[in-house]
Amino acid sequence: MNRRPVHGNINPSELRALGLRREDLLDFSASISPIGPPEGVWDAMRSVDLSAYPDPECLELREAICRHLSTPERDLPMDRVLVGNGSTEIFHLLTRVYLSADGAALLLTPTYGEYDGACRLAGAEILNLEANLTGDFRWDIGAATNLIKTKKPELIIVCNPNNPTGVYLDRQELEDLAGAARDFGSLLVVDEAYLSFVENSWDSLELLDRPEIMLVRSMTKDYAQTALRLGYALASKEVVSRLRQYQPDWSVNGLAQKAGVSALEDVGYLAKARKAVFSAKSYLSEELKALGLGVPPSEANFILIKVGDAPKWRSALLSKGIVVRDCTSFGLPEYIRVGIRPIADCQKLAAAAVEVIQAALAD
Ligand SMILES: Cc1ncc(COP(=O)(O)O)c(C=O)c1O
Repeated sequence: MNRRPVHGNINPSELRALGLRREDLLDFSASISPIGPPEGVWDAMRSVDLSAYPDPECLELREAICRHLSTPERDLPMDRVLVGNGSTEIFHLLTRVYLSADGAALLLTPTYGEYDGACRLAGAEILNLEANLTGDFRWDIGAATNLIKTKKPELIIVCNPNNPTGVYLDRQELEDLAGAARDFGSLLVVDEAYLSFVENSWDSLELLDRPEIMLVRSMTKDYAQTALRLGYALASKEVVSRLRQYQPDWSVNGLAQKAGVSALEDVGYLAKARKAVFSAKSYLSEELKALGLGVPPSEANFILIKVGDAPKWRSALLSKGIVVRDCTSFGLPEYIRVGIRPIADCQKLAAAAVEVIQAALAD
């Protein structure tokens, strides 16, 4: 039985079967910065000596991450940073190191499928705390802390803002989870893959005073370089060094390391990306609501759209050259998720949605 996590993008075998080419499609299924990689990244990668092994310790990149995140009031030391081959590698290291076969992990669902996939490989029991799926998609944090008390999971993973719902937990909610994690010896992992696109986010780095917390971030999404695979974790020195023991040397290749340093030097980039997300997201949400489609509020760079029959809508949009995420595998078969792309692309999606609705009415 295939138990691999579903990512919902279009894979080469599906493209071939449909006689399509990736370059002819508009891909809304991935949620990445809509403004493309920072300008300097290509030049930086050209300077890489392809015949040399990459730095297994990612020294320059960890220095650049610390410069990027440190402030005059708060210095982030390098031994609190672990770089991974995408944040996905970090989740797999975490479950391998922290989960035992007779242990448990608590996931706040519906959420990114890779957590479940990685926990399954560790053989642990998986406890799911489901959000309110008929309302605002938020979780009952009191119920989560009770579960932590009674089940004492070794790992708790929460995505903030959450994929696919766009729900953003406030500081108090995370502190409540962290308090329960501390009392029962769990590690609370907060996946912040989409945090850079939240308007007016609160400063989660302050939580790093707590040894029971790890923050995980994705540079592939922040800087639109998914092909390179790059993410990092911030945690206590002890947690970082424990995970590092299990990470193969050179898992972060030399091109990704150089591209990462260069991207972090582009100081205005993330604000520009966030602004582009904000205006395109407002535009698209309004257009879709005007068509009578439900669009729950999202703090992230993607939105859910309540279409009724998600697989049918995915196929209908695909026949018009548009790829969206069918949310059936999240347990949300009435929804599709679309990552925010530049406004011109969002206009094409809105026009395609009109055609899908008209075709359904004509049926
Ligand atoms: C919530 C979340 N975390 C992590 C990832 C993976 O990111 P990366 O490319 O850094 O491995 C994804 C990818 O879709 C995601 O949705």
